[in-house]
Amino acid sequence: MLAIDLTGKVALVTGSTRGIGRAIAEALAKAGARVAVVGRDAAKAQAAAAEIAPDARGYGCDVADAAQVTALVEAVEKDFGQLDILVNNAGLTKDNLLLRLKDDDWQQVLDANLRGAFVAMRAATRGMMKRRFGRVINIASVVGLTGNKGQANYAASKAGLIGLTKSVAKELATRNVLCNVVAPGFIATDMTAAMTDEAKAATNAAIPMERMGQPADIAGAVAFLSSDLAAYITGQVLVVDGGMVM
Ligand code: NAI
Repeated sequence: MLAIDLTGKVALVTGSTRGIGRAIAEALAKAGARVAVVGRDAAKAQAAAAEIAPDARGYGCDVADAAQVTALVEAVEKDFGQLDILVNNAGLTKDNLLLRLKDDDWQQVLDANLRGAFVAMRAATRGMMKRRFGRVINIASVVGLTGNKGQANYAASKAGLIGLTKSVAKELATRNVLCNVVAPGFIATDMTAAMTDEAKAATNAAIPMERMGQPADIAGAVAFLSSDLAAYITGQVLVVDGGMVM
């Protein structure tokens, strides 16, 4: 039987106490990986880890703080003895039209969404290269491909993630460290909960499948890219959006 089997692997998923990250952590644990669950609040991350699997562990980390990100990777490698799969999922929006976009809103979004992923990749890939196995999956967004009114900072951070991923994919391919992007469309989480009914209806109308996605839809793509089924795939952007962006 063809199956996704991550037995023996260790996965770190940032922003995994809720939403898409939580679904990814659950899917990877279900496939047999031991999972490091990460949230800004350590106690919440530990509580989520206990719910996900007996061998999962929770960690606190603000991904906008480079020193915390490096320390997180070191702690996970020490506690589990290895790190095989890194999923940079934590992200936030601070939306505004360009002329109203404050320097702070730009910087906060870039620091968390893009620099956090860079620092985590720099820290995690050293051990992956030594062990000749690694999977990095960065969660971008379709707006990193298309742009979006009111999201110049967010779209720049997600487009940056794509360039970052492709560059590192080229650097590390011969070491069997594969780096890919999953770009979600509109997924039902806290991030999209604030949309008005009209906005949701307009969005659904732009999606060939005529519905928003679920966190599990993204988790399936991440589990696939983490597995042996994706052993010859690197530097790719897998768009998971019900056909919205083709
Ligand atoms: P969410 O808001 O439910 O979850 C985001 C997670 O990231 C939360 O756990 C949050 O605490 C964490 N986070 C944010 N800033 C952080 C920081 N500085 N340090 C540590 N953790 C931090 O949102 P959702 O929808 O689950 O988003 C997950 C990822 O998917 C994000 O990168 C988002 O940009 C991306 N995405 C989501 C889409 C959607 O429609 N929901 C569409 C496209 C991309």
